[in-house]
Amino acid sequence: MTSILNPLASPLLQGHAMTVHSPDDSTRAPATSTAAPATADPKIKARGVKVFYGDKQALFDVDLDIPAKSVTAFIGPSGCGKSTFLRCINRMNDTIPSARVEGSILIDGADVNAKSVDPVVLRSRVGMVFQKPNPFPKTIFENVAYGPRIHGLATGKAELEAIVESSLKKAGLWNEVADRLHQPGTGLSGGQQQRLVIARAIAVSPEVILMDEPCSALDPIATAKIEELIDELRSQFCIVIVTHSMAQAARVSQRTAFFHLGKLVESGPTEEMFTNPRDSRTQDYITGRFG
Ligand SMILES: Nc1ncnc2c1ncn2[C@@H]1O[C@H](COP(=O)(O)OP(=O)(O)OP(=O)(O)O)[C@@H](O)[C@H]1O
Ligand SMILES: [Mg+2]
Repeated sequence: MTSILNPLASPLLQGHAMTVHSPDDSTRAPATSTAAPATADPKIKARGVKVFYGDKQALFDVDLDIPAKSVTAFIGPSGCGKSTFLRCINRMNDTIPSARVEGSILIDGADVNAKSVDPVVLRSRVGMVFQKPNPFPKTIFENVAYGPRIHGLATGKAELEAIVESSLKKAGLWNEVADRLHQPGTGLSGGQQQRLVIARAIAVSPEVILMDEPCSALDPIATAKIEELIDELRSQFCIVIVTHSMAQAARVSQRTAFFHLGKLVESGPTEEMFTNPRDSRTQDYITGRFG
């Protein structure tokens, strides 16, 4: 079992291959009317997840399996709990004083809420990209070098430079910034900033990348670049993306989960969810009857 306590015990950091769930496998799996397990060996396994903000319950008994090396989209009307559930995966709800989480979220079988888990280490394994690009007020180089430096992932300057270069290449940004690495990250365009933030997340060799509406502040060309990037990254990472765009969910994800009023209504292979949803609420949402 991978220890969340020790990031170096992670299969990805050790360079071992992780279980691959091919999109073909997932398209053969039946859509599930509840949250029943969808993949044989999920990367993330959520069971009975409830979240409360003070007295108000925002999520009700969510059970969901999320495969490795695949893109899973969360869809649903505003306020249905997509971001709340996403934040359970890397314990970002810990940062909200009124939030209380119940149930279990296992990553590679280990509970992220276990007392022994250091949330800072967990968040290096489970990176997050937000709606609004949020580069640090540092240079492009320092934005990407920050994580590897604090987690001691590079032994010297040359190794750190190599990590920065390869992360920027994986994020599809290297060619645009190679000659301005020491200029501020905030000087880039919105789409470039979002790719810089993705490079920053990749630089610590995460296993999971959570993206909360990563394209909603971007124009169509920048959006297309991020979608292309997500498609390339899925061969290496478990990606979860929240989106209000059905078209985007259909383009980038292999599996989709539909939330409504704090409940996970249905999850399954994206194609089936969009062509043959089981629940009338899913049907109504994807056909634009509400939301
Ligand atoms: N920090 C918070 N404090 C109190 N209530 C919150 C907080 N964050 C979210 N909520 C409530 O929890 C519920 C779920 O919110 P959440 O942000 O997860 O929805 P969402 O599906 O991501 O919506 P959107 O599509 O608008 O981003 C909502 O009723 C929201 O008002
Ligand atoms: Mg949200």
